[in-house]
Amino acid sequence: MKMLTRMAGLVALVHLSTLAWADFPDKPVTLVVPFAAGGPSDKIARDLAEALRKPLGQTVIVDNAGGAGGTIGAAKVARANADGYTLLVHHIGMATAPALYRKLSYKVPDDFEFLGLINEAPSVLIGKPGLEPGNFADLRKWIAGNAGKVNLANAGLGSASHLCGLMFQSALKTNLTTIPYKGTAPAMNDLIGGQVDLMCEQATNAVPQIEGKKVKVFGVTSMQRLQIPALKDVPTLSEAGLKEFNVQVWHGLYAPRGTPPAVLAKLNAALRVALKDPELIKREEALGLSVIKDDRLDPAGHRKFVEAEKARWSKVIKDAGEYAD
Ligand code: MLT
Repeated sequence: MKMLTRMAGLVALVHLSTLAWADFPDKPVTLVVPFAAGGPSDKIARDLAEALRKPLGQTVIVDNAGGAGGTIGAAKVARANADGYTLLVHHIGMATAPALYRKLSYKVPDDFEFLGLINEAPSVLIGKPGLEPGNFADLRKWIAGNAGKVNLANAGLGSASHLCGLMFQSALKTNLTTIPYKGTAPAMNDLIGGQVDLMCEQATNAVPQIEGKKVKVFGVTSMQRLQIPALKDVPTLSEAGLKEFNVQVWHGLYAPRGTPPAVLAKLNAALRVALKDPELIKREEALGLSVIKDDRLDPAGHRKFVEAEKARWSKVIKDAGEYAD
């Protein structure tokens, strides 16, 4: 009897807490992007904000909180009220920051609720205009013949281009001179201007420059070629000789730990609707990106994927010995 009364009490409590959040969201929701406006992560967050408006029935605002490889914005969300009104759109840096930063004020995965993976975004290996080699095989020989002279730009420690660069050097078994910039825009400007030789940049940012013939392209980092006009004839790095080379940047949606289950369920349902938005899909696919349709859209599948990425990248980062305080 006692047991039955306790169970009835629990059911009533769950019911009450669901009722308490029945009106969620009744004010604008903020998506924190831990990178600068105008970059690849900002782009997906803004497209997603637009697509979430309808299923959430609310305005969705993007707040750029950039710096320190995405860790400033991620920390901001980890500390935010766990009420579903402050969410994080973060990329692969969610999985790599714990290995890269010796002092991190939040824990992955413990300090977050996982709402679903949003997209996968391959990168491309690009070079300054006028770079001598015409294809990846020649580039490889050129790198070997210019030991110590070839440099590789990135958008700063913890950026996707930094991570792709680490994987590239590890696959080549060569150390290039790494030039870190304060973001994708200045790195890309210097590549276009010929001040640096190479960059492994997200397709989101690289495709317009390839289409405009402002940079040379040597290979795509995913295992499959990208079926968009600018890249369909460009080999994968794996095909071109770096067997099994596979770097995909991805973005996911997160809430602070402790967000009520009823709110998480509403946000996950809204994300599923948003990722079917034809306009969002069109914008992603035009750049060679793909919207997630598999079980990584489930919170548990998303979390499992991030944990696997964390393990995979920790090894690459440890081998490279690149850390920050
Ligand atoms: C950005 O949006 O600035 C990028 O995703 C940063 C990066 O390359 O990691």
